[in-house]
Amino acid sequence: MKPYAIQQIGLEDYPKCSAIWNMQTCPYTQLFIDQIKAGNRDVFILTVDGAYIAACDLVYDNPEYGTIPGRRLYFSRLIVKKGERGNGYGEALSRALLDIAKEKGYSEIALGVDRDNTAAVRLYQKLGFTVYEEAEDADGKFYRMERLL
Ligand SMILES: CC(C)(COP(=O)(O)OP(=O)(O)OC[C@H]1O[C@@H](n2cnc3c(N)ncnc32)[C@H](O)[C@@H]1OP(=O)(O)O)[C@@H](O)C(=O)NCCC(=O)NCCS
Repeated sequence: MKPYAIQQIGLEDYPKCSAIWNMQTCPYTQLFIDQIKAGNRDVFILTVDGAYIAACDLVYDNPEYGTIPGRRLYFSRLIVKKGERGNGYGEALSRALLDIAKEKGYSEIALGVDRDNTAAVRLYQKLGFTVYEEAEDADGKFYRMERLL
């Protein structure tokens, strides 16, 4: 793992996340932009020498995942650029976001992850998340996981 920096970005820099994931084809990109504008989604990125390597968001109001104002928030869209995975960046960014969420005064955090996404499930277990529900949507079976902060 190379020296890295983690920072929150605003809407003006959000398009640069296309270095990490395909913003053109993702059906949720506009929803995410609307949530950022509404102050309901904060986007954090991990950079190496200024290059975008990983991103992850905190979402404050997501009732489907049981968010509770000021107490429980939602961990969303963790992704590490292909070719940079397995180097510790995903874990580093996740840990930083858990600290940030705690600093903001939250005491619980939740997420959703596809059951067959072994890498992500293992990462979240390593971070101390546990499954509180097994669910299914149009994309398939997934776990709802949670953790105290
Ligand atoms: C899931 C993801 C974010 C992990 O990030 P990463 O930088 O590759 O992971 P790290 O190198 O920080 O690994 C941290 C831990 O995750 C787990 N892990 C990561 N890759 C794994 C793999 N291929 N198989 C099994 N476990 C894995 C391990 O527990 C690892 O800890 P260890 O090295 O002590 O075993 C990355 O694979 C990714 O971007 N995947 C596509 C997007 C995605 O699925 N995001 C999750 C949405 S819920």
